[in-house]
Amino acid sequence: MNFEHQIPDLHKSVFRVISKTASSLDQPVYVVGGYVRDYYLDRLKEEPDIDFVTLGSGIKLAEQLQKNIPDSHLSVFKQFGTAQVKTGALELEFVGARKESYRRNSRKPLVEDGTLEDDQLRRDFTINALSWSLNEGSFGVLNDPFGGLADLKAKLIRTPVDPEQTFDDDPLRMMRAIRFASQLQFEIEEKTFKAIQKMAPRLEIISKERIIDELNKIVLSPKPSVGFALLFSSGLLKEFFHEMHNLHGVKEKNGHRHKDNFWHTLQVLDNVAEVSDDLWLRWAAIMHDIAKPPTQKFDREAGWTFHGHDALGAKWTKSIFRRLGLPLDERMHYVRKLVRLHLRPIALVSDIVSDSAVRRLIFDAGDDIDDLMTLCRADITSKNESKVKRYMENFNKVEEKIEEVEKKDRLRKWKNPLSGEEIMNALDLEPCKTVGDIKDAVKEAILNGDIPNDHDAAFDFMMKNKEEFLN
Ligand code: CTP
Repeated sequence: MNFEHQIPDLHKSVFRVISKTASSLDQPVYVVGGYVRDYYLDRLKEEPDIDFVTLGSGIKLAEQLQKNIPDSHLSVFKQFGTAQVKTGALELEFVGARKESYRRNSRKPLVEDGTLEDDQLRRDFTINALSWSLNEGSFGVLNDPFGGLADLKAKLIRTPVDPEQTFDDDPLRMMRAIRFASQLQFEIEEKTFKAIQKMAPRLEIISKERIIDELNKIVLSPKPSVGFALLFSSGLLKEFFHEMHNLHGVKEKNGHRHKDNFWHTLQVLDNVAEVSDDLWLRWAAIMHDIAKPPTQKFDREAGWTFHGHDALGAKWTKSIFRRLGLPLDERMHYVRKLVRLHLRPIALVSDIVSDSAVRRLIFDAGDDIDDLMTLCRADITSKNESKVKRYMENFNKVEEKIEEVEKKDRLRKWKNPLSGEEIMNALDLEPCKTVGDIKDAVKEAILNGDIPNDHDAAFDFMMKNKEEFLN
């Protein structure tokens, strides 16, 4: 039978060259892992990384292949026994089939040469242990020793061997199981999930860089709540993100209950995910209520309150980002700003909202005002549909008002209309604190709506009040 149909036309010619090269070295070679999985799921990327396993040296095969493909580029990673050939946008990764046994408390395996079967056995999940032969006589034939294809059809994440063994070999795989479940909307087989629950504390030996890579893939998945719910119920979440874990729980006093902030956060995250693929806006959703637990109080009149959770959450953002291995640059500043401001638009939901409050919000949010509004809209969650509808309608009014004020005052990229130099020249001043005070007064006058946001009005304002400034 001819199984060539399984090799996508797009990559057939490169697979042919690999096949010939391997045969000239007398080294059988197979395509493995994510590429084969994604082919059957019909989610192959146009420019994928493709993993190959060979019986023999992966480095030797890659070196020869590089000679056979014009304009290709070779990188060798001697310490891992792997090599990469880049050709056009394709990244081809080669490794010799291995039999690995891992040492406890370390990820560094002891590696021995192995058979194809050994290599498939040491992989994380059945759906990732599929391979295609590229060898003459069996080109395109699928090897599926663990029923990976059936699991793909059944949408099931399952380990090829005893899950405790698979997770003991590399505890990051517990995160990967959940990442695949969230990305592909698959179920985790019961025995596999029970092993994760049992072994969650072993995540401790995994570096934050590897954990955050998987976590961000969960955050970017179509419905991230699927992954976070599994992280929570498996016990993994509290291993690396206890603040989020602690959002869970509902207190009751005098018949008053508050929302469970964990499930609320997930709903906000899903709402944001429906309208935006942006990782950092999704992170702002994750973080927006993060400081609710320590600010929780019960008030006889108001019921449960969380005063100041916006400011405290903003304060926590940097240290949480640092601990998780997230960037501390403008991406963190952006998330922190959205956390700090997330209650402000809601506070404007009243009929008699003043222009100056709107102006201040635009000024504080700057270019991120639209994202802030997206987050706040996503934050309106309630089981009571008419309540949600009423809020949304009021919210539309706030947005209209923002647009109106923004058009008039152009505050998004605000720059003080008076420069320090101009102030010093006009009032014959040396550099001093008064120059800063005048700038601040001009800003306040514009935000209050006392003067329009333009140069001449600001200049007149300064000259009219100069006695006061100079005294
Ligand atoms: N693998 C594994 N254990 C890990 C990481 C990877 O067994 N901790 C194996 C799996 O067979 C996987 C292959 O190595 O399919 C390649 O891993 P990687 O490139 O990280 O992931 P993909 O499965 O290719 O998935 P994606 O491209 O979505 O990241």
